[in-house]
Amino acid sequence: MQDGPVTIPKIGRSRRSTQKNQRAKAVWLTGLSGAGKSTLAVLADELLTERGHHTYVLDGDNLRRGLNKDLGFSDADRRENIRRVGELARLFTDAGIIVFVAIISPFAKDRAAARALFPSGEFVEVYVNAPLAVCEQRDPKHFYVRARKGEISDFTGVSSIYEAPQQPDLVLNTATESEAESVARLIDYLEQHGGLRSAERHG
Ligand code: ADX
Repeated sequence: MQDGPVTIPKIGRSRRSTQKNQRAKAVWLTGLSGAGKSTLAVLADELLTERGHHTYVLDGDNLRRGLNKDLGFSDADRRENIRRVGELARLFTDAGIIVFVAIISPFAKDRAAARALFPSGEFVEVYVNAPLAVCEQRDPKHFYVRARKGEISDFTGVSSIYEAPQQPDLVLNTATESEAESVARLIDYLEQHGGLRSAERHG
């Protein structure tokens, strides 16, 4: 079987996004657990939906309850997790949707492979950056404390590495800026890069 997405005949992908008065984007939020990826994805989703856009959130935690429930946290399983989520996000952008992906995606190589699925400019890598100490302090799901006790293995930042993006499209520093500031900068980025207007009408 051939790799890569199959071209949909008759109704092209640009027609689908133009119909929604936007340009499809996969906004890929990478960062440590507790850095704020899901929070920002949900906020941006809400704000843009209120503005009449068609958006969606693919969240690593949620996907691991269904599509990816067979995967754990070994390096190989994470790679497969990211591969599947990348393919899924690509289907959403084919449908003309601005999709926010909130997933640790700790390995640069796997993120690069996800980016390679998209036409140039459609994949936006956003580094949701907060120091490990801050994420550990927040510990919203009490995973860090359990990882430190050895109750959870291969935990990102504790017993499994996180490779920070070297050249992300955007960095959101959630330890030093408010949620509102971060999400405003994210939406501003999408505005500046054509995500929030139709390709056909505005060239
Ligand atoms: S990824 O590394 O494969 O991209 P993903 O974003 O899907 O991770 O899932 C991370 C979430 O799974 C965390 O937010 C946390 O709630 C939970 N989790 C459970 N075990 C681990 C672990 N060992 N490492 C990281 N996250 C874990």
